[in-house]
Formats: sequence, structure tokens, C-alpha cells
Amino acid sequence: MERIPIAIVGCGGMGRRHLTGVAALYRSDFRNVDLVAVCDINAQNASDLADEAAQQLGQRPRVFTSLPEMVQAMPEIRGVDVPTDVASHHLVAGACLDAGLNVQCEKPMALTLRGCNAILEAARRNGKILSVAENFRRDPINRLARALIADGAIGTPQLMVETSIGGANRMIITPWRHLKLKGTVVLDVGVHNADIMHYYLGEPVSIFGEGRLYEPRRLKGDASGPGGFYRKWADNVPEVIEATGEDALFGYVRFASGAIGQWIQHHAGHGQPRHARVVYGSKGSLTCPGDRNGRPLKLHLDGGQEISGEDILAHAPSYRLSPLAAELFGGERVWTYEFPFPETDAKILALEYYELGECIRTGQSPEVTGEVARRDVAMVYAALESGRLGRPVSIAEVEAVAVDDYQREIDQHLGLIS
Ligand SMILES: NC(=O)c1ccc[n+]([C@@H]2O[C@H](COP(=O)([O-])OP(=O)(O)OC[C@H]3O[C@@H](n4cnc5c(N)ncnc54)[C@H](O)[C@@H]3O)[C@@H](O)[C@H]2O)c1
Repeated sequence: MERIPIAIVGCGGMGRRHLTGVAALYRSDFRNVDLVAVCDINAQNASDLADEAAQQLGQRPRVFTSLPEMVQAMPEIRGVDVPTDVASHHLVAGACLDAGLNVQCEKPMALTLRGCNAILEAARRNGKILSVAENFRRDPINRLARALIADGAIGTPQLMVETSIGGANRMIITPWRHLKLKGTVVLDVGVHNADIMHYYLGEPVSIFGEGRLYEPRRLKGDASGPGGFYRKWADNVPEVIEATGEDALFGYVRFASGAIGQWIQHHAGHGQPRHARVVYGSKGSLTCPGDRNGRPLKLHLDGGQEISGEDILAHAPSYRLSPLAAELFGGERVWTYEFPFPETDAKILALEYYELGECIRTGQSPEVTGEVARRDVAMVYAALESGRLGRPVSIAEVEAVAVDDYQREIDQHLGLIS
């Protein structure tokens, strides 16, 4: 198979995780990319990732600290993966697209809607592929949940309850996740949950909601991050920071189908943590276990019937994983799996890289296009802008930046408006 030369730009925690995805794809029967370069403005991070790549891939990519230098030195690069921190996405992804490269950008697509729109315009202007690395929906359990809903297992969807509560006053990995001008946790984490609601129930139309900042002082938490990928930077994380970004978001979501979403992202929750994802329909309900844990779904039908385990597959006749996902997860109709987190994470990231390679090879469109990913970002900001205006806010007005009271300060800071 033709292998597309690609580069990783952004060699922090997620860059390290992405490398494990490249390695999982290399080990599969579907390898369609070659990692030929890594780039980061932090020279140490770039060179460390190249060392890790040499170990995991058997080949050391070239190291750059400047994107223009990389583009000039290696014109063979056709795709760039951008796991830089969110405040830089519009600049880095935009520069890659303007340099004629195809781009996979980490979620959230950008820090504000103006940032998303700038990236979308760059992709259109240059006629290049723009894919956003939204990984949760690629979890086989989320694929199965969506197929169950689409195949009518719960009847007509009426209500989705999406709840994440916990965190108290501990920092979520890095300080930037608590700083309004760099990326709030309600955006950084909330965009995943927004995407899952969007993936399960279709287009959101409007949101009535609000954001809160409950914990203005955040204390150092588990700075080693999921899977320990941030451990090498943990000593640099201060013991306490002054948080400026919202740490809770509450929303009432209306979908085009008529379904309603009750959305809670409470990352300052004390006491008992709570994570719940349940979809209720006209025939039954679907209880989902969360993301990347491989636990089975539960279907409850009228009359008290509970269906879980392999039997649930009978209610999702359309469910089929892609050939690569089937190879990585052990079958095309997987209903549960058990791998350590870093392994599951790598398998899902491998799916993203494979899709990027195929989009470049064949011209096919990615699953999470810039438009899809912008809608996920718009869901978060619809809730925050709604809180400022005291009324429901439509997704359309957020995407068109017809409401921006909350975001103006960030856009000014980013230089997107004066
Ligand atoms: N999908 C997921 O499950 C998941 C999980 C964690 C993080 N993320 C996303 O990944 C992205 C990165 O997060 P992180 O936790 O790795 O952040 P991080 O702070 O650990 O790393 C960011 C890296 O980007 C580099 N960088 C910044 N600006 C740059 C530029 N202009 N050019 C080149 N390099 C630049 C920094 O030097 C740093 O090495 C964010 O968008 C975040 O939301 C996604």
C-alpha cells in the first residue's frame, strides 16, 4: 500500500499519545503512513518525541522547531497532525493548510468560533483535507451505541442525559485547561461530550445554558495525566494556579429531531463523582459505560427486560466496525473489550491516522470534517453565550459569530479581532 509521508507538529502530552497511535497502525496490516518528521517550538519536546519514535517505530523522524523550515526542507510531506495546545490551532493548522498540506487537527478544532472559521476558510482556500481528531466516537462501544439508536433499539430518541461531575479543586493535567484565554476545561473536555451527543442524536439546534467558575484556585492534581503520558513535565506544574476559565457548564440542548439533551460538565464537583450517559426513547433506554473502557452497554425495554452482553447485538443489525478497527479490537461486531488504557487509546488513535492517510490517498472526506468539529465547539459556546444573554442560543448564530459576548475577550487576545 502507498505510504503517505506525515509529520507531527506539537510534541507535548497528546503528541506522545499520538505516536503510540502511529505505532499501532505500523503494527497492523493497514499501514498507510510514514512518520518522517516531528516539530515543536520546544526543541526538547520535539527531540524527545523523535527518540521515542525511533524506539517505537524503528526509525527516527527528522526534528524541527519551525514549521516553515520543515515545509521547506521536506517537500515530500503531505499530511500534518496538529496536537498543539488549543490556543495555537488556528495559527498552526492555518499555516499548514496555507503551505499546501493536508491537516489532522486535535480537538477542540480551535479556541473560539472565529478560530474555527479561520481554519475552515484556510482549508477551503487551499482545497486541502481538514480532519479533526475526535477520538471518543471511534470507540467501538460508541459505534455500537449509535448503531443501536439508528436501528431503532430504543424507538424514537426523546432524551439524552450526559453528565460528568467530579474534579473538586484539582488542576486537570495542565494549567492551560483552567485559563480562559488558553482553553477552559469545559471546552477541552466538553467538546468530546458535545461530539458524542451530536454523534448519537444528530444535529443540535439550540442550547439554553450557562457556565460557572466555581474553583478560582486550582491545586496541582495528578499531573501525570491519562496513561502517565505527561509525567515528564509534572515537576513543572505549579502547586497552585489562579483559574480564569469556567469549570462547569450546564445546558438544555434541543436537537433537530425534537430530542432533548440534559448536559452537565461539572469539573469542580465535590463529593461523589458521577458519570452518566443514558439515552431514553419511545421503546426503552440505553445506558452507556463512558469512553475507552470497553464495558458493555445495557438496553432496558418496557416490562423490565434488561439486555446486555452479546445478546445486545441482535438489536443492532447494521453494526460493523471498519476492517482496521475489527483487526485492532478483535472482530467486526465487538460488544466489549478489555485492554489497558494506553493500548485502547493507541488503537483508537491508529484509526484516526489511517483515515487521514486514506483521505490523502483517495480524496475521500474524513468523518469529522471541519464543519462537524465546528458544530461541537459551537455547542460549548452556545451554552456559555446563552448564560451571558439569558436566552436560548441557536447553533447557527454561534457558528456565524452573531453572538460572541463571551468569546470577544479571547478573540481579542488571539488577535482575531481588534
Ligand atoms: N483527544 C483526546 O483524548 C485528547 C487528550 C488530551 C489532549 N488533547 C488535545 O491535544 C491538544 C494538545 O494537548 P496537550 O495536552 O498535548 O498539550 P501540551 O501542553 O502537553 O502540549 C502542547 C505542545 O504543543 C507545542 N506547541 C505549542 N504551540 C506550538 C506551535 N506554534 N508550533 C509547534 N508546537 C507548538 C508545545 O510546545 C507543547 O509541546 C489539545 O488540543 C488538547 O485538547 C486531546
